[in-house]
Amino acid sequence: MSLITLGIESSCDETGIALYQMGRGLLAHALHTQVAMHSEYGGVVPELASRDHVRRIIPLLRQVIYDVDVPLARIDAIAYTQGPGLGGALLVGASVANALAYALDIPVIGIHHLEGHLLSPLLSDPAPEFPFVALLVSGGHTQLMRVDGVGQYTLLGETLDDAAGEAFDKSAKLLGLGYPGGPALAKLAASGRPGRYKLPRPMLHSGNLDFSFSGLKTAVWTLVKQSDLHEQTRADIACAVQEAIIDVLAHKARAALAQTGLKRLVVAGGVGANQLLRNRLNEDIGKRGGAVFYPDLEFCTDNGAMIAFAGALRLAQQQGNKDYRFNVKPRWNLAEITNQL
Ligand code: KG4
Ligand code: ZN
Repeated sequence: MSLITLGIESSCDETGIALYQMGRGLLAHALHTQVAMHSEYGGVVPELASRDHVRRIIPLLRQVIYDVDVPLARIDAIAYTQGPGLGGALLVGASVANALAYALDIPVIGIHHLEGHLLSPLLSDPAPEFPFVALLVSGGHTQLMRVDGVGQYTLLGETLDDAAGEAFDKSAKLLGLGYPGGPALAKLAASGRPGRYKLPRPMLHSGNLDFSFSGLKTAVWTLVKQSDLHEQTRADIACAVQEAIIDVLAHKARAALAQTGLKRLVVAGGVGANQLLRNRLNEDIGKRGGAVFYPDLEFCTDNGAMIAFAGALRLAQQQGNKDYRFNVKPRWNLAEITNQL
């Protein structure tokens, strides 16, 4: 019978648990988001995040197991997010994963959070075939990677300062919107009038695949200070922000496909939930004979399914072990896990 992997995600403000079975797919998954808890502070409070993971993780685990009637004894391995992320939050998932794996005498494996995001579109149907270019756009990262297989990642370009999600979040804050800012800004932008404001497209013509978004934040700040901030004006500014970010992302994604000669683009990470970005990429890349793949909407932002899945793929490469001493890696470069085959 094919292996069942339990996945645990706790790197930031979502506790995610999932069961994935090779050959059958995702059996069950459950998620608790801390958004409401952090929203009154305007961002994630790390200590509150850790404590909430402690509260949620076991009930979510029970829920997943009962949902599909898979007893603990049927689980063959455990995968958890080892980094990058908030140290305390990561420790919650890592300690539960290792303690449970020890109790069950099964292998455990630490997964790179971005590898989870990167491989998450493979959970969808149709799944993209290797090789592909991945546009990784989350709250903490903006990267273009060439992906030749599981563990075969080549960095093509990345942000020199703020991430795309951060640009959404910080601009949203300047516009008086709540956290997380991306979805709130996108919603406000829907009633905005395109073209009223033109914001800078940083590094659009830099000739490489790197990004920079901190100048955009400054431009939004200046614009907000100078404007009347009526509802329509705020919507128009939101529209301009979204246009600028999407323009840069689409332009660089296209350039990455041209540079690598690949036809498939995979978009992963929270910003990949943005509908306008999806429309734009589908159109731009479709026109050039390429195809764009996304995770299902619920797996764009942080979740346990992508960790269970990445863990299952890594375990298939014999990468788990029964050494239950663990550490977490709040800062962890994806290049370090490349080609450890
Ligand atoms: O991947 P993710 O859940 O967490 C990280 O690993 O960072 O990404 C969260 C980011 C946040 O910055 C959030 O504002 C952004 O994704 N986001 C969006 C949308 N949904 C989430 N940005 C733009 N449009 C959206 N619809
Ligand atoms: Zn993430």
